Amino acid sequence: MAFPAAFLDELAARNPIDDVVGQYVALTRKGGNLFGLCPFHSEKTASFSVSPEKGIYYCFGCHKGGGAIQFIMDIENLDYPDAVRFLAKRAGMEVPDDRQYESTYRQKERLWLLCKDAARYFHAQMKGDAGEPARAYFLKRALSASTVTRFGLGFAPDGWSGLIDTLTAKGYTKEEILAAGLASRNQSKGTIYDRFRNRVMFPIFDVRDNVIGFGGRVMDNSTPKYLNSPETVIFNKRRNLFGLNIAKKSKSDAIILTEGYMDAIALHQYGFDSAVASLGTALTEEHATLLAKYTQKVVLIYDGDAAGQNATSRAAPMLEKAGLSVKILRMEGAKDPDEFLRTYGADAFRALLQKSENPAQYRLQSLQVKYNVKDDEQRVAFLREAASYIAGLPSAVEREVYGTRAAEIAGVTAAAMKTEVDYAYRRKEAARKKKQNAQDLAAAQSRQPVVRGIRYDNVRSAMAEEALLRAVCREPALLREISLTPEQFSSPLLGKLYAALRTQQENDLAVGIANLGDEFSKEEIQHVTYVLQKSAEPISDNALRDYIAIIAEESAGAEESGEARLRAALARKRRKEI
Ligand code: UTP
Ligand code: MN
Repeated sequence: MAFPAAFLDELAARNPIDDVVGQYVALTRKGGNLFGLCPFHSEKTASFSVSPEKGIYYCFGCHKGGGAIQFIMDIENLDYPDAVRFLAKRAGMEVPDDRQYESTYRQKERLWLLCKDAARYFHAQMKGDAGEPARAYFLKRALSASTVTRFGLGFAPDGWSGLIDTLTAKGYTKEEILAAGLASRNQSKGTIYDRFRNRVMFPIFDVRDNVIGFGGRVMDNSTPKYLNSPETVIFNKRRNLFGLNIAKKSKSDAIILTEGYMDAIALHQYGFDSAVASLGTALTEEHATLLAKYTQKVVLIYDGDAAGQNATSRAAPMLEKAGLSVKILRMEGAKDPDEFLRTYGADAFRALLQKSENPAQYRLQSLQVKYNVKDDEQRVAFLREAASYIAGLPSAVEREVYGTRAAEIAGVTAAAMKTEVDYAYRRKEAARKKKQNAQDLAAAQSRQPVVRGIRYDNVRSAMAEEALLRAVCREPALLREISLTPEQFSSPLLGKLYAALRTQQENDLAVGIANLGDEFSKEEIQHVTYVLQKSAEPISDNALRDYIAIIAEESAGAEESGEARLRAALARKRRKEI
């Protein structure tokens, strides 16, 4: 375990789950538990529960769950050690020095330094004799000298070891340069060479202004157009956005989210200093959470093509789920913001921004373009698709407003449209309920875990194991009466939990999952939370004995059949030898 167990124990005690969750979710008490709207998926009825007694939260809708540390990891988008630090700070506790995390942190610091030195090298190369083609390219793209400086743009000259030689002279090792994603290895010779060659370089910063990676662009039409750093210990494309380190300081109330580095940079140059770009990947939930830390409003600008429209309809709900208000800007007369600004200038762009639509308006507008509502047949198709979309809007007011709007577009009465929307709404609800019922039924029938990737090989034993674990969490003293070993558990995960609980008890720590370390993965925590949130009545001696007997019996059975297999195999082998 990375952090000392006693520290985690105190951390859990000083951060009661209802208190921690209560800062993010409005909770109401129902019996011994608290309920609220799940912060991790959108819902109208409260299926998110918190058990102060067990120190856990669990959502019956999306099945997320865990202790206080897991909750902070999910909601604040932090990794395990940072969530621990967050809670320690919250409770006014000192975080003990920890070797493992110290060393990964030191590795990160070393890579941040290395990438900063690399960025300096690329920038100096761009300014020096070798940098003539890069300077000409930036000029061609109409980037001003101050933009080039503000974004730290640079140039990787054509060669195999310019960067490696420079970094080596500064004392970085081959392994470190590889770990930073700045070199590739020649498998047959075992040597390394520069990853970025003959490209203009865009350093990528995290929100704390550390250089974490690079995008490199060719200066002609060759491919790949952009080469990016691979994922490294410090570079995670799902959790970072290009330009956010600058945009977060903007006075503008909305962050402008674009698809390309060049788009974000051009926007800044034209005075739109809240522009960011994703890193060549689709928008993720992590991005949405990250953005929600710095703004309440996002303007989405994706390319006008089909791919861009798809990306928009995926991204908008994700951003809304993170609590952001979303506007969508439709590109007109240019393929992207960079091209638009250069052609029409900042004022024209400001006008486009003014015209940006909320997702429902955007969708109706797109449908209007897709169908010719003058034609009766197409008008019906328009109304049907619009009704289906509107039926999915979360609020009745929105359904009303956009229903009326769609009716106007198609030239039918609002009442007729309302009937259509209500019908689509009921159909959607029925489909949702049916799906949910089927899922519940399937889970109940097979009694298999709902978390993907976790299966029970022996359901009979697993059910006994679950019940036993619930009982000991309720009454830790029972652990002293149980002589099972973790290996006798049919489910490796439940056995691992059993071992962890035993260790807690032997060390006089609180027994439960609230203070487990990170030897349990997120999925594992999710599943054991699910197991433990089921109600646990006080257990009778007889029931306890039964559970123990089942687990022992099944594990003996497994061993026997294992032995039988071994004997059969040996017999086959002997036969062959004869
Ligand atoms: P685009 O192809 O739209 O390029 O890719 P762009 O941003 O307009 O670039 P310019 O104007 O031609 O210079 C959008 C983004 O997709 C990623 C990059 O992050 C780029 O900014 N991308 C694109 C890649 O990672 N690799 C590629 O080969 C192309
Ligand atoms: Mn472009």
